[in-house]
Amino acid sequence: MTVTPSLIFGLESSCDDSAAALVTSDRQILAQAVVGQNSAHEPYGGVVPEIAARAHVEILPGLIERVLADAKMSIRDVDAVAATAGPGLIGGVMVALLAGKGLALAAGKPLIAVNHLEGHALSPRLADPDLGFPYLLLLVSGGHCQLLEVRGVGEYRRLATTIDDAAGEAFDKAAKLLGLPYPGGPAIEELAKSGDPAAVPLPRPLVGSGEPHFSFAGLKSAVQRAVASGDFRSEDIAASFQQAVVDCLTDRTRLALQRSDAPTLVVAGGVAANHAIRSALADLAKAEGRGFSVPPRWLCTDNAAMIAWAGAERLAKGECDALDVPARARWPLDESAEKVRGAGVKA
Ligand code: KG4
Ligand code: ZN
Repeated sequence: MTVTPSLIFGLESSCDDSAAALVTSDRQILAQAVVGQNSAHEPYGGVVPEIAARAHVEILPGLIERVLADAKMSIRDVDAVAATAGPGLIGGVMVALLAGKGLALAAGKPLIAVNHLEGHALSPRLADPDLGFPYLLLLVSGGHCQLLEVRGVGEYRRLATTIDDAAGEAFDKAAKLLGLPYPGGPAIEELAKSGDPAAVPLPRPLVGSGEPHFSFAGLKSAVQRAVASGDFRSEDIAASFQQAVVDCLTDRTRLALQRSDAPTLVVAGGVAANHAIRSALADLAKAEGRGFSVPPRWLCTDNAAMIAWAGAERLAKGECDALDVPARARWPLDESAEKVRGAGVKA
C-alpha cells in the first residue's frame, strides 16, 4: 500500500523574519520564501519588537499569496497549516499564529501550533532522510544556546543551556562593538576571514567546567576592552572572537557527547550557518566516533520550511491543536529542565 504524503503550509514570524513555505511529509519543499527586516532594525543594533511585529503584519499576507502561487496551489490543497506559536517576541509570534488560524479556519484544515525551537530541532531531519532518533542537538540561535538529547518528536531532554547570553546574541553584541551591521554573525564571519584568530587574548568562559553549560557575557566584555584599547585591528578581534566561540561550543559539546549515548551530533539554529563552527563540530563528532549532521545554511537561519516540517512530523503522530491555542513568549522544549543559576533571563 502506498501512503500519500501530506502537504503542510508553514508560517513563521517569531523574530525578525517573515516566512511561508509549502513542504510535503516526504521532504519536498514545493515553495518557500523568507523576508528579513535587517535594514529596519540595523540602526538599533538589534531587533526592536514593535517594529518587527508591525512589519510582519505588512509582509506576511503577500508572502502567503506568493508561496501558494509559486507552487500553483490553493490553501484548500493542503492537509494542515503549521504556524509558530512561540517562543519569541510575542507581538510577532501573534501575527503568524493568527494568520495560520485564519487560514485553517477558512479552509477547514487542522492547525498545528509549532514550537519555533522544535522547528530548529527537527530541521536536520528535513534535510537528511537518514537522520534517525536519538541525536544530540547543539541548538545555537539568537535567543538560545542549548544542548538537547532529541529522543523523538516531542521528546527533548535538555543537558545544558547558557547562563547569560545566547551564542548568536554574543555575535550580535560583538559586531555592534566593532561597528558592524546587524545581524552580527554573518558580518563577523566575513571580517574574520582576513584576521588572525590568535591575535587577541580572549577568555573561554566555562571551558573545562564540570557541567556542559555555556556563558558568553564575559567574552563580550573582553571584546569591549579590546576595542577600547585601540591596540588591535578589527579583523583580528573578529577572528579571535569567533575562535573563542568555536572553542567554547566545542568544549561544552564534547562533555555532553561523553555523557550521551546518542550516535549522532546535530547542529541547528542561525549560528550553525557559520562555517568555522560547522567544521569544528564536524571534527569533534569524528573524534568522538559519532555521526554528524547539519542542515544547509539557509535552513539554519529562521524560515518556514522548518515550521512546516515540524508540523508534518507532528501530524504524522496524529497531533494537531485547537483554534484557541495561545501564543507563548516563553516555551522551553524540555519543560522539566531545572533552572540554571544565572539562566532564565532569555526566552
Ligand atoms: O535562528 P535564527 O535565525 O533566529 C533566532 O531564532 O534567533 O538565529 C539568528 C542568529 C543571529 O544572532 C545571527 O547573528 C546568528 O544567528 N547568525 C550567525 C551567522 N548567521 C546568523 N552567527 C554566526 N555566523 C553566521 N554566519
Ligand atoms: Zn530561530
